[in-house]
Amino acid sequence: MTHVIDGNAVAQRIRDGLGEAIETLAANGTTPTLATVLMSDDPASETYVSMKQDDCEEVGIEAIDVEIDPDAPAEELFETVEELNADDDVDGILVQMPVPDHVDQRAVLRAIDPEKDVDGFHPENVGRLVAGDARYKPCTPHGIQKLLEAADVDTEGKDAVVVGRSDIVGKPMANLFIQKAPGGNATTTVCHSRTEDLAAKTRAADIVVAAAGVPEMIDGSMLSDGVVVIDVGINRVDADTEKGYELVGDVDFESAKEKASAITPVPGGVGPMTRAMLLYNTVKAAGSRAD
Ligand code: GUN
Repeated sequence: MTHVIDGNAVAQRIRDGLGEAIETLAANGTTPTLATVLMSDDPASETYVSMKQDDCEEVGIEAIDVEIDPDAPAEELFETVEELNADDDVDGILVQMPVPDHVDQRAVLRAIDPEKDVDGFHPENVGRLVAGDARYKPCTPHGIQKLLEAADVDTEGKDAVVVGRSDIVGKPMANLFIQKAPGGNATTTVCHSRTEDLAAKTRAADIVVAAAGVPEMIDGSMLSDGVVVIDVGINRVDADTEKGYELVGDVDFESAKEKASAITPVPGGVGPMTRAMLLYNTVKAAGSRAD
């Protein structure tokens, strides 16, 4: 029987576990506070940010919601980030990516105070992660480590294949997998759009993390029996539904499930974990600043 990993249930346990830390901070007069900054009218980005805001409210984190017109000059975003950096009440800052083309995304990530960078995207935090001294682990790969742990999947000595080399998922996931630490110690291959014979790589894997952003690109024929499949994709594809689209992952769930010992669904797999780990990082930020 294939174990369909319930990301909602694992995320709920993480949120419950944060309750105690939040109460302790509250008793000392600190309410963890996350500022989200949205400079986009992309419906998916709007949905993600509003879900992050709702999550904060549910666990007792204060959420500050800043929205900037996507046509505004880049300076407006940089000024907002500077104000939030200087605001003592703000523990975490998240600028939803992508930002518009006229805004230099790397400059935005560098502008965020690394101590408030709960995404873990600032170059200082990326460097610390690579060095094995992470301040904030990026939310999606950290959430995947927690999902694997919850599903009793030991990564040590396993062959892990990460499909996708994004700064947000693929690269930090590979870095966490190769670390000499629980959730790491895996022999790790990173595949991408120029990989020749992707199927040969994924067939050789014990664990496949699909994070390429291509709908259903990995199917059962590309997997070996007993593989653990983690699907990071959240792709909107046109469909005859009320909303006019449906969400599909980077994995063809039905055929992959025939091969997998464990697999995450879309939705309800990695997505809720990404959001839970953002709350985790925000509480961590508030704790470090309160010390
Ligand atoms: N866009 C897609 N995923 C993320 C994320 O984890 N953080 C931010 N800031 N933007 C994103």
